[in-house]
Order: sequence, then structure tokens, then C-alpha cells
Amino acid sequence: MGLPFLLKQHQSFVFSLLLGIFISYSITLYSNLSSDCFSTDYYAQPINLVNVQSDEYEPHINLAGKPQKAKKVPQNLIRPRYYSSELGIREKLFIGILTSEQTVSTLAVAVNKTSSHLVNKLMFFMDAAGAEKANVITLKLPGIVGFVDTREILKPFHMLKYLTDNFLEEYDFFFLTRDTSYINAKHLMNIVKKISVSHEVHLGGMSKSDAPTYCTLDGGILLSNNVLKKIQSSLDWCVKNAFSDTDDDNVGRCILHASQLPCQSTFQNLNLLSVELTETDKQNFESEHLPAAVTYYKVTEPTLFYRLHLHLAKSYLELQKVQIAELKNSLDISDLAWPPGSYPPKKPQSRFDLLSWQYFDDKNIYLTSDFINLKPLGGADLLDIYNVKNRSIQWLTQKYVGNIQFRRLVNGYRRFDPSRGLDYILDLAFKDSTGRETIKRVEVTKTLGRVEMLQMPYVTENSRVYMLLPILEMDRTMASEFMKQYAQTCSQSDLSFLMLVLLYEPNAPGKGHIADVFKDIKELTLKLSSKYHKDCKITWISIRVPDVGGGPPMLDYLLHFAILDLASKKLAPDSLVLMTEPNMEIRTDYLNRVRMSTINGKQVYSPIPFSEFYPPIAYRNTEKKTVLEIHKNTGRFDLDNQRHISFYLSDYLEGRKLMAHLPVVAMDKDIRQLYSSQGAGYDKPTNLLDMLTRQGLSIIRAVDPALRLRRRNCMPATPFIRPTQYNPCDSPLATRAQLGQLVLDLTGNKSSSSLRHK
Ligand SMILES: *[C@@H]1O[C@H](CO)[C@@H](O)[C@H](O)[C@H]1NC(C)=O
Ligand SMILES: *[C@@H]1O[C@H](CO)[C@@H](O)[C@H](O)[C@H]1NC(C)=O
Ligand SMILES: *[C@@H]1O[C@H](CO)[C@@H](O)[C@H](O)[C@H]1NC(C)=O
Repeated sequence: MGLPFLLKQHQSFVFSLLLGIFISYSITLYSNLSSDCFSTDYYAQPINLVNVQSDEYEPHINLAGKPQKAKKVPQNLIRPRYYSSELGIREKLFIGILTSEQTVSTLAVAVNKTSSHLVNKLMFFMDAAGAEKANVITLKLPGIVGFVDTREILKPFHMLKYLTDNFLEEYDFFFLTRDTSYINAKHLMNIVKKISVSHEVHLGGMSKSDAPTYCTLDGGILLSNNVLKKIQSSLDWCVKNAFSDTDDDNVGRCILHASQLPCQSTFQNLNLLSVELTETDKQNFESEHLPAAVTYYKVTEPTLFYRLHLHLAKSYLELQKVQIAELKNSLDISDLAWPPGSYPPKKPQSRFDLLSWQYFDDKNIYLTSDFINLKPLGGADLLDIYNVKNRSIQWLTQKYVGNIQFRRLVNGYRRFDPSRGLDYILDLAFKDSTGRETIKRVEVTKTLGRVEMLQMPYVTENSRVYMLLPILEMDRTMASEFMKQYAQTCSQSDLSFLMLVLLYEPNAPGKGHIADVFKDIKELTLKLSSKYHKDCKITWISIRVPDVGGGPPMLDYLLHFAILDLASKKLAPDSLVLMTEPNMEIRTDYLNRVRMSTINGKQVYSPIPFSEFYPPIAYRNTEKKTVLEIHKNTGRFDLDNQRHISFYLSDYLEGRKLMAHLPVVAMDKDIRQLYSSQGAGYDKPTNLLDMLTRQGLSIIRAVDPALRLRRRNCMPATPFIRPTQYNPCDSPLATRAQLGQLVLDLTGNKSSSSLRHK
């Protein structure tokens, strides 16, 4: 039974069926408009419908050999070395100059000096024999091409051939002229920048001969990239038809033949004017009005080039001054950030976003963070404030010539805005001529410098990290947790190595002793090492820390030097070393960041950890989670902790050599020398970061959200505190709000039993 019969019999049915197909089709389309690829489902649905409704009409879906495979296997895209080649980005302007043996050392040099710094590329073309005679190598011109063919008439074609062979893909526009023409390169560049590269352009100074469709080489010929492309295929024709005496006619005929485009002097209201200088012009063009042209020819003297250049540069400068003045007048200064041209200060989105001003006086700076009330000014901060103060005083005394005398700093405010720089407000008290005190307020801003790109070597995430973990007797529980976590998370692909540094106190029982304080740690190490594969190694070294006067320096920054001196004997110089603490949570993210941010011989990574508050206070009203959450109530980024740092061992060893007054530690008892007063007069480094900073390595010091530290046990109190000592208990217990609440609760007689820990 055929379709026509079916149509006759069931006209209305078929019609409604088709309508149904159409509706379901259109609904599918509309409801799915937002999804960008249509699946084939909606074709199948209506056809199934037909199948069910009518068994007389049985369409077949031919599934044989489907889905079809693409005949051509898509090839891997080979990326070019530079993104500019992939995107077809070209530079703007190439200038080609015809020169000769007689003029290359005079006129060509003058052309180079007056225009090469203003365009993308400048090259000179002459015959090879002449180039040799003129000894062009000694001229230091940016590019000279010599042709073996000495036929004068073919020189322009050799130049064109060279350009099509070498630079077709690199420049948008080509400007060709002779070395007897002064090129007003700024003007030319301005014109070229306004022309779209998609246009076919054949512009230039028109010749005065009987064939005005041609440009002259003296006036200069501007060709767009696409016109030069057309010339490429016609060069043979051009050479065969170069029968005229003048280059202008031959070249013009060639371009016209290739592109069907006669020469024009204007394009979209842009005028490519060229001016032939008369003898009187050459004498005194400075006092005449020179029209703004692209070229001025025939210039036969290098000095004329320089005079023209000077004159045009001067008038250009005048013009710019006028424009700047006009712009200035059109601006409403009160609307703009001060100083003019600087970035405006950041406008806060909400009251939580406010960049606060920090108050300072001559000695201290106040409330630099939520946890610090007052900090003595020192180092770079002090120096900066001193300079700002000094400059302000100088400026004010100059302004009120001799009439005022500086007395004191009354108030100082400082604010750092990352989008702008450092702003200061100073209130300075002066004594005026009558002896009374007057106060002057000044605003000072130090804007950020230019952003600079640093070339950095390529790094991958495949380097092995050697974690050095110093452990004290009191850290044993934390350390065994750390080791278990390490053994569990470490996998074969995640290259790392854990070296425990067991720090014995002077009289603690050690190796071989039945009461060895680190016996359980050593046993755990052996157990874990045998259980897990060899890619996650755990080893230990033991150091007995001597008493250096005032007790052993157990948690001291200088001890890191001893640890590294002793451990470096067991590690290769190209090892990536990471100093850690046992209260750290191990995260792959963190280790990867260490691998990416540490560069051999170039860069050191010094992450700022997120440190937990004192748990009994921080979790008084909430539950303590198994992982440390980053929240303002659980901890804070601890700027004072510089114990986490990663670097290549060779960089350390290099820097260590320079620290002659910090003797290398070969044995445990040498540690005493680190603390000897010898060398105290030198600027002794206070910690690893300090030493590495002095080496010209670049330092990344930034908060790392994947480096989280649990609250650490306190050191027993010592009578004597060294400046390089680190005490985990110095960090704040909790936020002000939490502490305040606690005080309120306690004074309200709701004493908290959990506080007895402290
Ligand atoms: C839209 O298309 C998807 C498949 O591309 C299909 O799963 C979904 O059911 C369609 N939605 C509607 C409303 O037809
Ligand atoms: C040509 O110009 C370049 C760039 O401005 C400059 O470095 C070079 O010294 C110049 N050569 C001569 C001979 O003046
Ligand atoms: C500012 O610095 C200059 C040069 O360092 C110094 O001579 C001058 O005394 C300083 N002025 C003040 C007010 O400190």
C-alpha cells in the first residue's frame, strides 16, 4: 500500500499526524532553544508514533553502519610558537629605503636617525658591490640588503621580491621610498593606524608625469599587505615589462597590473601629502609654513634631514602642549583623584570592606591588625615615614619661605590601597614668626610603580618535596598524627619524602637508651616505612641541642640553620626542601603550590599559614570539626610565623657560604657557635627567610589557604627570651569578640570549667 493511497484514505489523519509532527518538532525546538546542540531525539519520537498508530506504513530507520565514523581523522593541532602567529597578529609598518653606494653613509644614516625609532622596522636596499665598497658593516644601520644584480632599473623589484619573500606575514603596511626623502614618521604612523587592514591600499605622492595613475618613489608609496600579496604573483610580469626609464613608471605599472588599483593620494579623508622642497624652502623653511606632509624630498644633505626633524618635532611638541592645555581645561579637577593621573582610591562595597587608616606618631603605629594595639615603628616603615615627613617639611618651609620652623609631628595617618599605593595624611606643628604654634596638614601619596613582567623558568608539579619536620619532645602526639596522615595521603604519584628531625634536649635520654624520648616515634617510622611503598619514605635524623646559655634554643629560628646544615649531608643539592611544623594538616594542594612556586636559583616560597585559635575559647559555643575551617572565629593568618618556607637546597648552600659570621654546623655541639656573640656586630640574619631574602632571589610571601595549623602546645616558660625565639603561645587566643564574651560570661558568674586548661 503506497503513500498516495494512504493519503486518499486517511487524509485527515495524515494531516493531523503531520501537524503533530510539526508541533512536536517546533515545541522541542522552542523549549530547547537555550541548549546549543540539538540531539536527534526529537526526530525519533514522531516516527515511533507512526509505528504505533499504523502498521500499514512501516518506515525503516536504516541503522546499518551507523553512526558513521568521520572519514578524516582530525589531526592534532600543532600550535605555533607565538600566539601572534596563530592569531595572525602583525606589526603595523615596514619602511623600505632604496639607497646607493654614494649616499648610504650620509643620507641613509640620517634617515635611520630621524625615523627608525618611530616605526616598526626600517631596512635599506642597495646593490651588493656598492655595499661592499661603502663598507656598510661599519655603519651600524639596522638592516641592509644587498642585491647581486646591479641593473639600476630592477632595484625596486628586487626590493619588492625581498619583501614578499620575507615580511609578508609580519607587517600590515609597507612604505617604500628613497634615501633622498625625509620621512615624517610620526605623521605616517598616525595615518597608517587609522586604516583598517582589510582595505586594499595603494597610496602615495602622485607623479607629475603624463601618467598620473602612478605614485613616485620620492614621495613614497604606501602598500597594504593584501596589495603586496597580489604583487608577489605578478613580479615576473613586472620585470619583463620594466621598459620605462623611470622607476616610478615601472613600479606603478607593476602595482596597477597586479592589483588593478591606481595610485591615490587620499584615502577616507586621510591625505598622504608629499612635498618637493624648492631651493628657497631648503634655505629657510623654518620661517615658512611647512604643510604637514608624509615626505619632503629631494633632500641632498644630511644636515637638512636633521633641521627638518628638529623643526617638525618642535611643532609637534607645540601642538601637543596646546592639546594638553585644552584637555586640562575641559576636566573638572574636583571630580578626579589626587594627584592628577593617579588611580582613584577604592570605593568600598560595604562597611566590611573599608580600607582603614592607621594612626602613627614618631615611635609607634596603632591597630595595624585586629590583634595588635600598638607596634613600635621600625625598619622600612620607619624609614618611609621619615622620608615622607622630611619631604613634607621641606615643601612647607619652601612654601612659607623662612617664616615657619618645624616643631613636631602631631598626627600621622597611613593607608595602603592595593589599587593605588600608599597614602599619608600628616599634621605637622610649626613655630611661626610670632613664636606661636601653627598646625599644617599635608596629604602625601606614593603611587604604585609600573607593573613589570618577570621572566620565569618553566616549572611542573613533578618535583619531589623533601619535608623537614623538626619535632620536640612535647610534640610527640602531634607528630605521630602527622606521620599517620602522611602515610595515608601520600601516593606513588605524589612525590614526597618526610625527614623527621628529632630535637633532643641536652640531658634527655637518647639513642640506645631504654627511655629514649623519641622511641615511639622511631618505632612508628619503621612500621609505616615497611607498610607503605617506597615512594613515601620516612626517615629521621637526631640532633642533641646544647644549652647555649639561657637554656637550649628548642623553638628558635636560628636552629633551622643547624637543622639544614646537618640534613643537607643526606640530601642532593637539587632537592626541593620544605620546612614544616607537626601541627600542619597535610593537603595535596599545598604541596603542589610549593612545587609550582619554588624555582631553583630564582624563587623561594614563604607561605603564611592559617593558625587556629586556642580551642577551648574558639569552640566554646560551636563544635570542633575534624578539619580546620577557615573562618574568622577559628583562627587567623599568622604573619609572624615564618617557619614554613620552601627552597632548593643549592640556593640555601649558596647563601650559607656568604654568611661567614654564622659558622656552618658540622656537629651538634657546633650549634653553640650560632649563638656566640662573635659576629654580633654584623647584620646577622635572624631566620632562613631573612637569609634567602638577601640573596637576590625573588620571594613569594602570601597567605596559603591550604596551609592550616592546629593550635600548638606552649613551651615551658623560660627566664630568658632570645630575639630569634619563636613561641607558639604568643599568638592570640581568640578574637576580641570571643574574649569579650568570655569576660562577660565570667563576670556574670557563669564560670567556664573549660578555661582551667590555661
Ligand atoms: C531538551 O533536549 C534535551 C536533550 O538535548 C532533552 O533531554 C530534554 O528533555 C529536552 N527538553 C524538553 C523540554 O523537551
Ligand atoms: C639606527 O637607528 C637605531 C635605532 O634608533 C640605532 O640604534 C642605531 O644606532 C642607528 N644607526 C645609526 C648608524 O645611526
Ligand atoms: C631631610 O633630609 C635631608 C637630607 O637627607 C637632611 O639634610 C634634612 O636635615 C632632613 N630634614 C629633616 C627635617 O629631617
